[in-house]
Amino acid sequence: MIIDKIKLKNYRNYDNLELKLNHKLNIIIGDNAQGKTNLLESIYVLSITKSYLHVNDKNLINFDDNFSILEANVIGKDNNKKLKIIINSKGKQVLVNDKEIKKLSDYITNLRVIIFSPDNIRMIKDGPSVRRKFLNVEISQISSRYIKTLMDYNNLINQKNEYLKLPSNKNYDYLDILNDKLCDLAIYIIKYRLKFIDNINKYINDIFFEITNINGLRLKYVSNVELDDEELIKEKFRDKLDKFLDKEINYKMSLIGPHRDDFIFELNDKNLSLYGSQGQLRCAILALKLSEVKIFSNIGNDYPILLLDDIFSELDIKKKNNLIKYINDDVQTIITTTDINLIDDELVKKASIFEIKDGKLFPGK
Ligand SMILES: Nc1ncnc2c1ncn2[C@@H]1O[C@H](COP(=O)(O)OP(=O)(O)OP(=O)(O)O)[C@@H](O)[C@H]1O
Ligand SMILES: [Mg+2]
Repeated sequence: MIIDKIKLKNYRNYDNLELKLNHKLNIIIGDNAQGKTNLLESIYVLSITKSYLHVNDKNLINFDDNFSILEANVIGKDNNKKLKIIINSKGKQVLVNDKEIKKLSDYITNLRVIIFSPDNIRMIKDGPSVRRKFLNVEISQISSRYIKTLMDYNNLINQKNEYLKLPSNKNYDYLDILNDKLCDLAIYIIKYRLKFIDNINKYINDIFFEITNINGLRLKYVSNVELDDEELIKEKFRDKLDKFLDKEINYKMSLIGPHRDDFIFELNDKNLSLYGSQGQLRCAILALKLSEVKIFSNIGNDYPILLLDDIFSELDIKKKNNLIKYINDDVQTIITTTDINLIDDELVKKASIFEIKDGKLFPGK
């Protein structure tokens, strides 16, 4: 898919922005704090309906206004769509071709976006919730059944947690019924995540090696359920729910299930979060995102859009050169930079260049 045009009104530091994008490569140049990240973030919001930065929707509205409108014209393989998101103090409205869409699961596959941002390094260093969120968001972009199942699962976990928090004696039959329901949803979620991680592992090491010349990167899913025999996952999970029931009643919360799972980055069997250098972490995330481009392109038969925020700033020249081949004409790409000289001449030659100053856009030289 391709974004032909973006319009932003009162979004972050943009009053009114209209941008017709190159269908292949776009480079956005600007000094610090001019609006480069904000622009990429707006495209992500048009895709997921939320920012990837951990902020409230309200933060997306320009300081001086009380509403914000984001629009994108998206050209897909089979049809074209106008996506529109209106945010105000009361909430958010999401429209496709001027028709309001109420459920996130009915919207989220309209615009598939993969973003690399300097903030992503947190994904390796921070706690498991950041990585779970990553898995949930990325898989939701390729499967609306996954996001529906996840929402049902989260609702059930909330229901169970509320019940566990009640001061009264517990009805074991009721908890048994809840656990039966949870089990089916949990297994679907875990299996989809395992499949996604498996798919990532088909590409990530080769890409990481091409960029860094280091071999041995892979992702490993870490579950509180034994996963060694896929046939038996469900039985083992159900068993574990039973075994932990008294503990859950004691702790007053659900302790077992994919809402507590995680994944790690391993470099030659060592956890990268404990041993990786800054540059290695950055390249590992890049390799992850570029693996996703492959996966997204295979699924749904259409290419995703690639957003690369400040990708070239902290890499040495060799790594920069190794990266260039992953920026190709099939995938519409937007790169931001503070300095055009950080970007390879070949890329600059074929790109549309835009300059951003204080939330205003100027055609680049
Ligand atoms: N809701 C908002 N309303 C108005 N301005 C905002 C809002 N949110 C952020 N900003 C402003 O946007 C600017 C930051 O923009 P952005 O993060 O896109 O910069 P950048 O060009 O990516 O800079 P850098 O090169 O440092 O990453 C800051 O000046 C910030 O104050
Ligand atoms: Mg930025």
